[in-house]
Amino acid sequence: MLVFTTVKEIQSFLNDQKSVGFVPTMGALHQAHISLIEISKTENEITICSIFVNPKQFNKKEDLIKYPRNTAADLAKLKAAKCDVVFIPSVEEMYPTAIKKEFYFGMLSEVMEAEHRPGHFNGVAIVIERFFEILNPTNAYFGEKDYQQLAVVKALAEQINSSTKVIGCPIFREKSGLAMSSRNERLTEEEKVVASQISKALTFV
Ligand code: PAF
Repeated sequence: MLVFTTVKEIQSFLNDQKSVGFVPTMGALHQAHISLIEISKTENEITICSIFVNPKQFNKKEDLIKYPRNTAADLAKLKAAKCDVVFIPSVEEMYPTAIKKEFYFGMLSEVMEAEHRPGHFNGVAIVIERFFEILNPTNAYFGEKDYQQLAVVKALAEQINSSTKVIGCPIFREKSGLAMSSRNERLTEEEKVVASQISKALTFV
């Protein structure tokens, strides 16, 4: 497994690769991320997983600070999953100049999570556009757990005329029914029970 931290290094490696599958993550990897890697491996010659906690998509500073980070454990999981390449850029590497883009995706930019997390999807669009620019992947894989995010990324790909195919992948759940998420690490056991009950109610209505 190769690990790159700079745009220059990863681009010179990718120069002669044919089909590239891309799994963007913010780390704190779990089985749902690994399932995306596994799908990508069956559909592409090379699979790249990025680990980058994107400051632009956090509307609360406290949330960014508290976001779980464990790169050593992430690398061990990716190695066990036989991921080919890991890209771990710094903030400076991703955003060498100030970016003040405002994307608009119609209703998707206004309702549900967009309403409660102002600027969140704009930040996701900024980072995904930048990753697509750096890696030019053939296919990019996103979990259906974040369904609105998946729709936003599909709309982004269309808006920027990207040649990357955006692929949604099935939700992975704990035995309790709770959808796997890096953020679950921040829940107490009681909160997890409540979340799994809500999740079951929403799944089976
Ligand atoms: O779903 C996530 O982990 C993030 O929003 C993503 C897609 C990696 C962009 O930072």
